[in-house]
Amino acid sequence: MSIITKTLLKWYLDNGRILPWRVSPKDAKAGQTPDPYKVWISEIMLQQTTVNTVIPYFKKFIKKWNCIDKLSQANENDILAFWAGLGYYARGRNLLKCARELAEKFDSKIPNDKEVLLGLPGIGEYTASAIRSIAFGESEVVIDSNIERVVCRIFCIKKPIKQSKKNIKKYAHLLFPEYNSGDFAQALMDFANFICKPKKPNCTLCPIAKSCLSFQNDEVDNIPIKPTKKIKPLKKGYVFFAKINPNMFLLERRPSEGILGGLLGFPTSTWDERKFETTYPFEAKWTHINKVVTHQFSHFKLELEIVLGEKVDPQFDNSKYLAIEDVNFDLMALPTLMRKVYIKAIQI
Ligand code: ADE
Repeated sequence: MSIITKTLLKWYLDNGRILPWRVSPKDAKAGQTPDPYKVWISEIMLQQTTVNTVIPYFKKFIKKWNCIDKLSQANENDILAFWAGLGYYARGRNLLKCARELAEKFDSKIPNDKEVLLGLPGIGEYTASAIRSIAFGESEVVIDSNIERVVCRIFCIKKPIKQSKKNIKKYAHLLFPEYNSGDFAQALMDFANFICKPKKPNCTLCPIAKSCLSFQNDEVDNIPIKPTKKIKPLKKGYVFFAKINPNMFLLERRPSEGILGGLLGFPTSTWDERKFETTYPFEAKWTHINKVVTHQFSHFKLELEIVLGEKVDPQFDNSKYLAIEDVNFDLMALPTLMRKVYIKAIQI
């Protein structure tokens, strides 16, 4: 085991976070073992989402669906409503598909075979290796974007991460221990969060600075090499906030295919890179109120102009639109974009 590995494992013992899905190295010594269900749920939630955001969602999720059997019987709309605000909703949909497959074919247990894990919905290389190492103590090399950064810095890799994947893997293999690879993966994740941060890393507190080639070469601020930034396209459209009386407004369930698929929201036009004329979704007295909501998706930026609707034709299509009473409305059941629309629309 390299000195870097030894030092980081010791650092984790003293500084590792206590997290609701984790068994600390101390508790592990006392005989506690991780719950593979909790490890799976946490690893799915932690993809593209920070630990601090995930913690309250994770606790609520485990309270509501405490095992694979319970989760497999959930309804997709309930999972999507739960997922509101976390983003990347395909994760929620795949989680449910996966739970159903586990209930049907795997006796409601998380398998530890790599190939089997990789065949399950929503589980790719990273998640499979994280589950195998953290939940089952199997030997794995776990690489996520934070670990990539740490590896690039330790070995002073002077190419952008995207072009260095093979090298990063090779170097990560040198660091990961045969035993305790789950602890080591989590040590790297915590170390990446507290010390080897993306901006302004804390090299003065770093226990491995002496072994870090970027630190030794005074290159820490330059590594990982930043890729040339791609400009995200800007899409525009209209969003319709329609009151059917002073205390009720309309929502729709978005089509299951496409962005925010299956989620609740205010009706919108199509979203396009060119500005276009408004086509209203149903008869009402429509007013353009000069308010725009912006939102960043992973591949584009969106600007939606809010259009207020009053005197809605009572013959509106109630198989398509849901009339919601203000008193029964749960803002948190909407995805973030639609929360922004509601908050802006009611500030009149
Ligand atoms: N990010 C992804 N998985 C994690 C874990 N198990 N602990 C902390 N951060 C993480």
